Amino acid sequence: MARAFRTAGVVGLGTMGAGIAEVFARAGLEVTGVEVDPGALERGRGHLTRSLDRAVGRGRLTEAGRAEIMGRITFTDSLAALAGADVVVEAIPEVMDYKRALFADLDRVCRPDAVLATNTSSLPVTAIAATTSRPGRVVGMHFFNPAPVMRLVEVVHTMVAEDGLAAEVAELARLLGKTPVTVGDRAGFVVNRLLLAYLNHAATLLEQGVAAVGDIDAAMRDGAGLPMGPFALMDLIGLDVVYEVCEVLFQETRDRRHAPAPILREMVTAGLLGRKSGRGFHAYG
Ligand code: CAA
Repeated sequence: MARAFRTAGVVGLGTMGAGIAEVFARAGLEVTGVEVDPGALERGRGHLTRSLDRAVGRGRLTEAGRAEIMGRITFTDSLAALAGADVVVEAIPEVMDYKRALFADLDRVCRPDAVLATNTSSLPVTAIAATTSRPGRVVGMHFFNPAPVMRLVEVVHTMVAEDGLAAEVAELARLLGKTPVTVGDRAGFVVNRLLLAYLNHAATLLEQGVAAVGDIDAAMRDGAGLPMGPFALMDLIGLDVVYEVCEVLFQETRDRRHAPAPILREMVTAGLLGRKSGRGFHAYG
């Protein structure tokens, strides 16, 4: 029988983790945000606070509502605080060894019936599940940036998941106000498989001198009706993430459309990561 979700843990408070913690807290769950790096913990708290401030500034949330949401979130550096959580979402960097080590720890700490979810964009959920003693309770919950705004959650089911887990997690996504789609455990799932080929292609067009950054962005925004052009979107996602996801997709599929455009590697090496570093294809105040 599907359980009630009242308490959630989020591990990793980068852009995605902070956004996901906000989503759970807004839906009324008690949230524990875990971040081992004290600097990253403060940045995550700041990200969340700014997001709620923006909502208050736009009249979408009252001051009292903001205080209630913040009151439901506890920040800590200790995984032990997740012992009672109904669901834990992992949002740490996309490095398989880190994820496997974390899930082995979560397996020790969390209740046996807790849902252990990964927000991975491109790594195999099955391999993450296999590091635990309860692969049947491990699932992908892939949110999109900015997490409080984007409606979709890809629910990634594996061949070792319990019957009914995908439906239970889809229901949780609906409780969070999201639209779930259930997808198989294949690199990039649906959105990134299609989106990253397009973004990578935009970088190639730039390298080929077909048009400038601002013109390609304007073309896709105003000509194809997208909310933002490909370079603005890569800056939002983070060029390090774009590069990594392309690389994983290319390794997995050997499809040249995913072979990262050289300019992406060059920009990552130079530290031009997009909004989070203040400069990517565009500059940010
Ligand atoms: N955090 C929280 N809320 C935010 C936000 C953020 N970072 N950025 C914008 N918002 C909110 C605003 O407060 C505003 O809310 P209200 O309507 O309630 O007032 C709303 O979003 C719209 O924002 P703006 O009016 O400032 O700007 P906009 O209309 O240009 O929308 C956008 C901004 C939502 C980011 C829009 O441009 C968009 O949808 N862009 C595409 C984003 C996208 O494709 N994301 C997926 C990336 S792929 C990915 O994430 C997967 C992966 O694994 C790599």
